[in-house]
Amino acid sequence: MINEKIEAALNKQVNAEMYSSYLYLSMASYFQSINLEGAANWMKIQALEEMYHGMKIHGYLEERGGRFIAEAIDKPASDWDSPLAAFEAVYQHEQKVTGLISDLLNLAIELKDHASNSFLQWFISEQVEEEATADGIVQRIKLAGPQGSGMFMIDRELGLRVFNLPADIKLAIQPSKI
Ligand code: FEO
Repeated sequence: MINEKIEAALNKQVNAEMYSSYLYLSMASYFQSINLEGAANWMKIQALEEMYHGMKIHGYLEERGGRFIAEAIDKPASDWDSPLAAFEAVYQHEQKVTGLISDLLNLAIELKDHASNSFLQWFISEQVEEEATADGIVQRIKLAGPQGSGMFMIDRELGLRVFNLPADIKLAIQPSKI
């Protein structure tokens, strides 16, 4: 049975991941509205990844005999000043999430909850990747210049991102049959 403090903290993290998903879906719509369809695609996939992060924690709670109680999700912003500003916001948001994951791991260590400690290690590595990816895009937009052909080239690359449903999400319906 999972410790109730870590259960509550993991519940909050599911909410934070769902907020991230909602935020990136909102950004997808912003990019669509300024005709950057590649960036919109990147954001939609990011939104799916965040939902996956939330479901991964949800699954862990189930496995440990815990319970997920859904709470309201905060309203994200819907407009940004520029593509650069939006990706800077992604980078800042991911740094915030890294802090949340770090706090969760500290709690697991404090409670000597080795199973949660082990579970959270995946998220620690994932956050390194998430921050590096977002920062990389920010740097490329800065180099290319946020307007004109440079941004369109980056947009084309962002349009190549694909999403594969991770194997640890156990659903009765396989993606190929949807
Ligand atoms: Fe769920 Fe982008 O971290």
